[in-house]
Amino acid sequence: MDSRRWRTFLRATLRSWKDYPQLRAMDRATFDRYEADAKLVQDAVAALASTPMLDAAFLSAIAPPLERLLQRMYTLGDDITAFLLFKQVGSLLEDQGLDEPAAHALQWAGRCSRDLRFYDEAQIHFDRAMVCLQRVGKDHPYFVDLYGAMGILCHLTRRWDEAESHYRRSLDLLKLWPHEVVVRSSRFPKSRLGGARLNNLLDLLLVRARHSPAEARTRELLAARKLLTRIREISWGDPIALEFATANEGEILLLEGRTPEARALLLQHVKHLLMGSPAAARLLPAVHRMLAGAYAEEGDVREAYAHCREALQQSLHHANAYEEGMVVEATLDIMSDAIRPRLAGAGLSALDADDRETLQNLVLMLEQKDWYTGNNHSRAVSRLSRTIGEQLVATPQSRAGRMEDSASFLDLQLLELGGLLHDIGKLRIPWSLLNKCNPLCPVEHRILESHVAEGGSMLRYLGFAPLSRLVEEHHEKLDGSGYPAGRQNLSLMGAIVAVTDAYEAMVTPNRRYATARTHESALDELEARSGVHYHPRVVLALRQVIASGPS
Ligand SMILES: [Fe+2]
Ligand SMILES: [Fe+2]
Repeated sequence: MDSRRWRTFLRATLRSWKDYPQLRAMDRATFDRYEADAKLVQDAVAALASTPMLDAAFLSAIAPPLERLLQRMYTLGDDITAFLLFKQVGSLLEDQGLDEPAAHALQWAGRCSRDLRFYDEAQIHFDRAMVCLQRVGKDHPYFVDLYGAMGILCHLTRRWDEAESHYRRSLDLLKLWPHEVVVRSSRFPKSRLGGARLNNLLDLLLVRARHSPAEARTRELLAARKLLTRIREISWGDPIALEFATANEGEILLLEGRTPEARALLLQHVKHLLMGSPAAARLLPAVHRMLAGAYAEEGDVREAYAHCREALQQSLHHANAYEEGMVVEATLDIMSDAIRPRLAGAGLSALDADDRETLQNLVLMLEQKDWYTGNNHSRAVSRLSRTIGEQLVATPQSRAGRMEDSASFLDLQLLELGGLLHDIGKLRIPWSLLNKCNPLCPVEHRILESHVAEGGSMLRYLGFAPLSRLVEEHHEKLDGSGYPAGRQNLSLMGAIVAVTDAYEAMVTPNRRYATARTHESALDELEARSGVHYHPRVVLALRQVIASGPS
């Protein structure tokens, strides 16, 4: 394709994506159309990357429309594909010595990966963007954006001093450049960027206050109040800066221990944001997340979980990858505080009805996020795992609880919970990847497979260490060809969940495979791999359970 045809192709694709709702809100046909287009873009960039003698002038001509298309991809909610493409395009531009567009693409690769919580990747891309831009000029106006984006990464990775110096550099440069230059470089008005940076600095004071002992906290909070007043006085009339400031005021009240006032202010802010605020996409999930913290502080965990779910819903609805990750971690913090102290020492026998409700909430959040496995997958795996466990306990070979494998005991309660929570690590996998139907590249496969290890670490954090092994084994296979560890000596309970998970995935219609397999064909497939991938006694028990009718 020559550069004219490339540009025509990019512009036509961008035009056809103009009126799309976010991926989350698309019907099946629109989603399929989007994915087909996204695949065309991916293939075109791959073809570009394998062209032996790329012409710099050609690349430089297609870089701006390509960047616009990838930004649109990101705002539609396909952040993972946007990240991989920005990374690839950034490298191509960098190799051709096109420093300025390379800095743009690499900055976006950094930003997407930061929001997806791939922090190491983000650091690498920001550093490369920095090197490229420094070659163009050390006070280049694009540094306003780049320093801001890097500051947020440092903030998230708890390098607070570095974050502060990046935010301040961004503000200094903003003062240096006239409005028109800033708009040309970042496509945002100077007032918007200035307000954002001041709110970033305020965020930083609040995170420091949260992690400080009482005396230092009072100092940080005083400084935060002063900065809040300053933002309101000199926000250059930017409505988004003012709305961020209100959310930050809620956080200040929370840290000051004035929880009822914080709650009232945040609830009021939700109402305001719902009336069509331009900051809704960024703030609604965050404000619900803060409300969850406020209710948890007051001991109303039920209301706290409701706000966690709403925060997740809002982050998905607005394709806000950053908040999608933040709310999952905030939920785990609240749940860990609620469950862990009671489980310590007492184990799973201490689980009461409230704890079960907590876990159900976690599963509900997973179902909100995962179209692929869809509603009910976790509960179906849980039910079937328990029934198979009961079947195995009832058979003579295992009545004494002994099986031929090394970890040879069956705890039906553990099995039921393990089935319920086996995919819980998917809460830490970006929505855009969980629900992608286009073929996945090796990087995406690795990220998706990390749900197993993430699930184990989440359960340990919540105080369910005995469940973590079972969950970590649900994609392992008897011959060692599974993941993540390629382990061969599976526990019996891990082997049961592995079989039920595979079976349920085959017989349930879902987004990726619209037509479900019949029970018989699924059983045939499992039996064909019995003894190689799946535990033969578990496969046999499954057939007996299915033959005896619905459980
Ligand atoms: Fe899984
Ligand atoms: Fe599963």
